[in-house]
Amino acid sequence: MVSTPPAATHNSGRQYVPDVPESVLDQASPNQFLMPLTAQVNGKDHLEIGGCDVVTLVQQFGSPLYVLDEATLRAACRQYRQAFQRHYPGESLVIYASKAWNCLAVCAIAASEGLGLDVVSGGELHTALTAGVDPSVIYLHGNNKSVDELQMAIATGITIVVDNWLELETLVELAKATSAADESPQAPVRIMLRLTPGIECHTHDYIRTGHLDSKFGFDPDQIESVFAFVQQHSTVLHCVGLHAHIGSQIFELQPHQDLAGVLVQWLVKAADYGLTLEELDIGGGLGIRYTESDDPPSIDQWTQVICKAVVDACGDRQIPLPKLIAEPGRSLIGSACVTAYTLGSQKTVPGIRTYVTVDGGMSDNPRPITYQSLYRTVVANRMSAPMTEAVTVAGKHCESGDVLIKDATLPPTHPGDILVVMGTGAYNYSMASNYNRLPRPASVLVGEGDASLILRRETYADLLAHDCLPHRLTRPPSEGSGS
Ligand SMILES: Cc1ncc(COP(=O)(O)O)c(C=O)c1O
Repeated sequence: MVSTPPAATHNSGRQYVPDVPESVLDQASPNQFLMPLTAQVNGKDHLEIGGCDVVTLVQQFGSPLYVLDEATLRAACRQYRQAFQRHYPGESLVIYASKAWNCLAVCAIAASEGLGLDVVSGGELHTALTAGVDPSVIYLHGNNKSVDELQMAIATGITIVVDNWLELETLVELAKATSAADESPQAPVRIMLRLTPGIECHTHDYIRTGHLDSKFGFDPDQIESVFAFVQQHSTVLHCVGLHAHIGSQIFELQPHQDLAGVLVQWLVKAADYGLTLEELDIGGGLGIRYTESDDPPSIDQWTQVICKAVVDACGDRQIPLPKLIAEPGRSLIGSACVTAYTLGSQKTVPGIRTYVTVDGGMSDNPRPITYQSLYRTVVANRMSAPMTEAVTVAGKHCESGDVLIKDATLPPTHPGDILVVMGTGAYNYSMASNYNRLPRPASVLVGEGDASLILRRETYADLLAHDCLPHRLTRPPSEGSGS
């Protein structure tokens, strides 16, 4: 296995380019690289991804542009699957946490690599089903699922990861009503229970979910009554397992190792209530390399630690191995994508900083303003130019906080240069907005020199598509005065 990424150089000609030989492309853990695995500098000194010149892509598709490298995404999917097959003697399933980037093409790629899907809303579920994902491998999360979303989940036969008492009680009602309406016995609704394990991890407060003060899941002191309730309603609810997710962008392995032990303990407790739970869903959370100082474990190392912890805990308690499920998002897709922008205005505040401005910002990447996330960037049309300038990369939104990178090191830049921000595959498109009425960017899937549009750029007509102008507001002001 290639477990250590080659050093990402910062000031030589080929900044940040992974330089992974084609022969080991499938083994380099994408989450350990700043750039997609296929990134190269071509003969024009331009950045090339998936065999496509990024400068040409911008000429063809406009900017900002999300450029998603199919080979990197597929390599990550395969590495997760193969790692579970290698390290876990029982059955396993990797499900893509599609909140990281949910659209038809990405769902279809994950499914074609044998992954299931984690969805968190009716909209994500609709996209997954339209992309052809098999309902038997779709899991619905969410701490406030609507009745409509629950009905949709029941009708499609997916697994519902139940988060709280209201949801549990609503499901019982809905399941009974469905059976009564059909006048025939229905298969019980397939559910899992989300538990709050009380495990701390080091990441941003907004993306920590497993500590006790979390809005997600059943607290440890409720679990036994939840087990009793589920058992009482086993004719309408089929509880298949337990789930917990402790947070995102995590580099430590210990919290996941602890989580495995805690979940196995609860599997054993469930048996006291007559519940035979066959599935254990450990969540996602493996971090990626956004900057040179980020040093996440590889997909293989993360998987190995979790598998060993589950095997050991089951061995200690002499219970059969559950079907082990993991639901990574960021580490599957984060490093597979870059965002290409065109540079515009610049402003130097003497003695303080120089702002260079891109044609997007917080509407296509809200992570810096939300989580103070750090990113790295290159000038894609002059890859070998020495990086001599300290600048701040600002967005174009009417918000002082709309800064993508506060302290970037770049070559001298000019309006019209193509700036590429790396590691934008996860929680960028999916968190994008129309703030300031900017149309959302296009996304292209690149591979083997080919670029296919997977999300077309929004137009001004798209922006108005949901606007309704009440008739009375269309009259000239004098007519509406009432005199
Ligand atoms: C329940 C659940 N599962 C999986 C994930 C995916 O996490 P990550 O993208 O860090 O792998 C999340 C994201 O926060 C989540 O809330």
